[in-house]
Amino acid sequence: MNHTTPSWLESVIPNHILSIPTYVPGKPIAELERQLGIRGAVKMASNENPIGPSPAALRALEQHLPEANVYPESSAPELREALALVYGLSPDSIILGNGSDEIMQMSAHVFIRPGDEAIMGSNTFSMYRIVVEAFGGKAVRVPLKNYKFDLKAMASAVSDRTRLIFLAVPNSPTGTIVSRLEFETFLNDLPDGNFLLVLDEAYREYVQDTDCPMGIDYVGRRLPVLVLRTFSKIYGLAGLRVGYGLAEPWLIELINRVRPPFNINSLAQKAAVAALGDMGHVERSLQVTRQGMRYLQEELVELGLHVIPSQANFIAFCLENDARPVYEGLLKEGIIVRHLGSFGMDNCIRVTVGTDQENRKFVAALRKVLKG
Ligand SMILES: Cc1ncc(COP(=O)(O)O)c(C=O)c1O
Repeated sequence: MNHTTPSWLESVIPNHILSIPTYVPGKPIAELERQLGIRGAVKMASNENPIGPSPAALRALEQHLPEANVYPESSAPELREALALVYGLSPDSIILGNGSDEIMQMSAHVFIRPGDEAIMGSNTFSMYRIVVEAFGGKAVRVPLKNYKFDLKAMASAVSDRTRLIFLAVPNSPTGTIVSRLEFETFLNDLPDGNFLLVLDEAYREYVQDTDCPMGIDYVGRRLPVLVLRTFSKIYGLAGLRVGYGLAEPWLIELINRVRPPFNINSLAQKAAVAALGDMGHVERSLQVTRQGMRYLQEELVELGLHVIPSQANFIAFCLENDARPVYEGLLKEGIIVRHLGSFGMDNCIRVTVGTDQENRKFVAALRKVLKG
């Protein structure tokens, strides 16, 4: 659709808002099916949980639906207490967001004034840049090295305007992690400054490598650290929008000042508590993902593609040339993946591990598309 922009807009709206690149989400299934007039399309584009939400969460939703006329409890005490028990923290070390996206936005709201800087990888989750630029900040994007964060270069990029550093472990879209030693060396290399390290662990539950650092171990040490986690991935509740942040209470209290009062709806609060207690669902999700990951990795390598080693629930692979035609070819086969052009990786595609059936459908379609 073409929008006609009112002529006065550019003189009223700040440039840093007008220049924000719009977030590009994975294409919804319904949209593709409408466009192609097909049924049964498969979406493997947004790193969602292919086995769905926990049955316990579904029961909680049904049970509490009749209370939808009442405002939620603003501070979501039951959910914060449940999380506090899991992490051995006090509930005042926990903040909830409408997805972890919202906590990124609140952090930028608190820490970024026009001209301030935030350091991030050049190929990473695009919301970091968007939230920083929305508050007039500058995204300092440090190139990756062999698809991994170049932590030395990121530490060297710190200036007296640095207010935030974003690090996703595992990173999206690459799925790569940093080792404990690399992370601790990075922490030591960071100069003293007035900034917050945001450690985004949206995919942490999927990691198999025991040498991957655990964000919570670094809260309350030399630097202010905010660890972000989410119910959108392994807990299968992406549609309900619940993320959480773990940090020292002074930081949580500070970020809470800009939190909209009812940001987690009452049904999402109940479902998240139930999902947190359903370890069987988490185990099943892990099993499906690990099995699917092995299968996809083998098949992609066999197809001669360059596969980036992933510790998450998705895998990125690269071609010699722009991967957009392959992405479009897959769409025509009813498979939605993610072309990584908007992540600055034109030659690459990211595919979310699906169910066994979805993975096989994807591989068959990819084989067909690559043959042309
Ligand atoms: C690295 C990373 N962080 C955070 C998120 C967003 O999570 P949420 O659904 O909690 O906003 C995503 C979503 O895809 C992600 O890839």
